[in-house]
Amino acid sequence: MKLIVVGAGNIGLVTALCFAEKGNQVYCVDSDQPKINKLKSGETTLFEPQLDSLLATHLSKSNIHFSHQLDSFINQSDVILIMVGTPNNDAGEVDLTAIENVLNDILRLSVTALNSRSFTVKTIVLKSTVAPGTNIKLTAKYPNFNFISSPEFLREGSAIYDCLNPDRIIVGSASRQQSNAHPSSQAESDLKIIKKIYAGYKLSDDKFLPMDSVTAEMTKYAANIFLAARISLINEFSRVCEKAHADVEILKHALGLDRRLGSEYLNAGIGYGGSCFPKDIDAFLSYANSLNENLIITSAIRKTNDHQVKTFAARIANYFKAAGINSSEATLAIWGAAFKPETDDLRDAPALKLIDFLLAHNFKLNLYDPRATSGLKTLFKENPNVKIFENSYEALNTTHALIVATEWNEFKSANLKEIKKLLRKPVVFDGRNIFSPPIMRELGFEYFSVGRGFNEL
Ligand code: UGA
Repeated sequence: MKLIVVGAGNIGLVTALCFAEKGNQVYCVDSDQPKINKLKSGETTLFEPQLDSLLATHLSKSNIHFSHQLDSFINQSDVILIMVGTPNNDAGEVDLTAIENVLNDILRLSVTALNSRSFTVKTIVLKSTVAPGTNIKLTAKYPNFNFISSPEFLREGSAIYDCLNPDRIIVGSASRQQSNAHPSSQAESDLKIIKKIYAGYKLSDDKFLPMDSVTAEMTKYAANIFLAARISLINEFSRVCEKAHADVEILKHALGLDRRLGSEYLNAGIGYGGSCFPKDIDAFLSYANSLNENLIITSAIRKTNDHQVKTFAARIANYFKAAGINSSEATLAIWGAAFKPETDDLRDAPALKLIDFLLAHNFKLNLYDPRATSGLKTLFKENPNVKIFENSYEALNTTHALIVATEWNEFKSANLKEIKKLLRKPVVFDGRNIFSPPIMRELGFEYFSVGRGFNEL
């Protein structure tokens, strides 16, 4: 099938290439011309495992086409999938400007087509995360288009795998709002369209979940909020474990074996970050507020997450105070800055909050991240107290402690003896529990991790 994808960011680019991989002809549009030029020449614009090879393959097979203008592709397909950014405004509400810009563009081009009598109603698949009720609002404002709400659930770092192996495909139709039990012919046609888009995936029928558009839009928020809640709960337990001399890793294992709970999203650490959980929690709180609903648990997730990284950062500052070392004379090495491994994305990364706290406490910092070097250089190039390294061990040289902020695999297999040799004093603050406490103790490290008792400060 021929498909137009608008937006070539973390979700749009990956999804466009996955649709190409599944046998579609994909026309990908993004208004950022330099980005499009790079993609046309086969250069990826973000780091995601296997993205380079997928782009090269489908450029060479001519299954993917890029343009910075919709005009060049508008007549290629009647189905347009929108995957542009939906940031929150100052009030925490979802800003639909980018989506509306695309719709107005399509409208302008469609009117020209209408004059030449070649107008067809376009199906717009909304994959961007939008507040519940957006489909209905847009349907009223743009009656020429048929909107289908089909939020995307891929995770950065494993985006291609997730996109090629979806757990479920949501098919939200505004016309189902009257009745989910007796779908309109429009809703039935929406399901057919989505099944056609995903034909190459060979998914069983039960993977497609037709529903009203408000529930479809809410599913995305509910999924992210549930996941963020699990992380915040295990982080809360980690703090109690520390004080009670218990071990959150053993607790996690025991919880994970309970079929009712499952083992995913139970890694304690310095909290969640990224472009989705924090933004979506704020947007949903604001949406619920507009309905006069005060969401007690959802607001607590946000507070718990902020508290977690602050507690960890304060522990580091307290250690140096207790050791009588003036923070302005101490340099700390931080390994990992991206909000999770296998991405170069620094948006809302917990490591950045840690860095801000430590800089505010006058520490000097040596930073290393396997993929986020250029983002770090942009953020800290003017700061004389921050040095950015391209080699993890060089970042350690003569520093007073190592802090692990992101659990990259290369850190898990690091040479611990070499780390010990390079540090002034063998002190490690492990914000992602990647090392083993008995091994670290045996090697003579002062080792502090998250929720693994016996080391509170
Ligand atoms: C999240 C959702 O998992 C996706 O389903 C969704 O499509 C996406 O948001 C989105 O809304 O677009 P993502 O933010 O890319 O995906 O990454 P996750 O793997 O979910 O991790 C989010 C944060 O939680 C990271 O900072 C990660 O380090 C943290 N995390 C995750 C933990 O602290 N502990 C865990 O056990 C798991």
